[in-house]
Amino acid sequence: MFWTFWPLVFLLPITSDALQFTQLPLAGPTTDDWDLNASPNYNATGRFVFDAVAGLLQHWSNTRYHNGHTIVPGNIPAGTLLYHGRQDPDVPTTREWASLDSEFARIFCAEDDCWILTLVTTRPLRVLYFDGSSATKNGDGPIDTQDLLSWGAVLPERVSWDYERLRRLCELGDSLGFDAFVRMQGNFEVMLCNFTDGVQTVSLSKLENEERFPHHGYTFLHASAWHDHYPGETRIQLDLTRLISLYDVTLAPSLVPVRSGKERRMHRVLGIDERDVNAVLARVRAIASSPPSQSGIDWSTLFKVIRDRYSTRLEVLQSILSTDKDPGPRAFVIVQMALSPYRLYSAVPHPTGSDTAWAAPVFRLCSQSHTSFIESIHDELTASEHLLLTSAQETTREICRTLVGIWAEGMISLRDASTISESLALKWKTGVDHLINWLDWSLWTKCRPACAFDESCYIPGSPFSMEEWDAPEPRCISLFEPYSGIEPEDKGPPQNISSLPPRNLLKTLRL
Ligand SMILES: *[C@@H]1O[C@H](CO)[C@@H](O)[C@H](O)[C@H]1NC(C)=O
Ligand SMILES: *[C@@H]1O[C@H](CO)[C@@H](O)[C@H](O)[C@H]1NC(C)=O
Repeated sequence: MFWTFWPLVFLLPITSDALQFTQLPLAGPTTDDWDLNASPNYNATGRFVFDAVAGLLQHWSNTRYHNGHTIVPGNIPAGTLLYHGRQDPDVPTTREWASLDSEFARIFCAEDDCWILTLVTTRPLRVLYFDGSSATKNGDGPIDTQDLLSWGAVLPERVSWDYERLRRLCELGDSLGFDAFVRMQGNFEVMLCNFTDGVQTVSLSKLENEERFPHHGYTFLHASAWHDHYPGETRIQLDLTRLISLYDVTLAPSLVPVRSGKERRMHRVLGIDERDVNAVLARVRAIASSPPSQSGIDWSTLFKVIRDRYSTRLEVLQSILSTDKDPGPRAFVIVQMALSPYRLYSAVPHPTGSDTAWAAPVFRLCSQSHTSFIESIHDELTASEHLLLTSAQETTREICRTLVGIWAEGMISLRDASTISESLALKWKTGVDHLINWLDWSLWTKCRPACAFDESCYIPGSPFSMEEWDAPEPRCISLFEPYSGIEPEDKGPPQNISSLPPRNLLKTLRL
């Protein structure tokens, strides 16, 4: 809604690229082909968009996949506190960094000269959020989407140019009406373009000395864990109807061959061609000038509803199929339950034969039920909403294809043998394993067994576990004395972190 109040001065011309993209036909599963044996297109990215959108503003998924592909405008409401830690009592007069949790700001104050400036927003701040571990100054991908906005190209050699990056982003922000930019590195930070406009000082305090580590590392982790999972950092309110994704194959087709054959963790924006960069920048400019979406769809909740329906059931199904002695009958019941709104009375196997075409109406109903209304108001959707729709369609279609395939085979097996053989269950296991790998939902990555009440399930990554940056496996760590677990092997205090002098840590965090 807040975009409607933007002054006319922000109405910049939209390039023909942006218009062209809003009018492209959907490259999605709008087909009427309900063949249970037809696999999804190898290059389709709907599942990546789905998991990225489901994980926006969450520490967990953006640590697991640190190379962000999404740029989303949003709002920080009036009355929100922001924190800025310093080694002196000077209030910044220009652009600087602030955090949403004081635990993050505290890292930037000196041990014996710890100043914390607390600000409050006096009006909604207009922000642009970069997903991924986007505040980590690493040249292997997390800064790529910011590079597009600051330099107009991905330039890993400028990874440490953070003040220049801030200056360029704020220049763009001035012309487009953004007050700040939001990034994450363990905690969420706000790159605030003006320390007096839209914010006022609540307090400037010199704080009591505290032993820096292990304390601060761990209190920082407390704050990270608060935003681990959905809905994440709710002080940033995103407008998904203006989301830009580099996984959008109509927006950035040059990245399709770049990603081809690479694991998801290795996906990045380096390799994008100039035409696609211009198209992305046109979409960023169009955020300021295009009218708000009238669709009324709550995309975040739609994606949540789809995850809720299937995440636990698929996880349990996978576990039954891999650990039960004779898993077929029990697995079949779980699949029946997941498909219960779609199991049509009229859909029954033919008297003989193993063909499953009779189940096509169940496949279609399952695949379309959450999205058919949205498909029907297609013309009212923004380009971002078209992407979200395709993503929900591709995702539910593949879930339904797998589950309906299992159900149909189960029905035929019960017709012929009144039971489900172990060999059939083994085939199902392959299908379910494949589906779970294909979906790759971040909420399935967890500590098993679950952690104790005074522990936290920690996903290693930026800033304290960079050695596990590319292969994070969650583990339980003790968040309170006796501290343990940030280091992979060691169960004692994190020695090499406690010995880091503050300035080095500053360097690690901000270069
Ligand atoms: C910050 O905003 C104030 C009030 O709009 C303005 O007077 C000042 O010039 C701005 N500062 C910078 C550094 O842009
Ligand atoms: C996927 O993309 C690659 C690179 O553009 C292309 O060579 C390949 O044919 C595509 N595969 C499919 C199934 O479309």
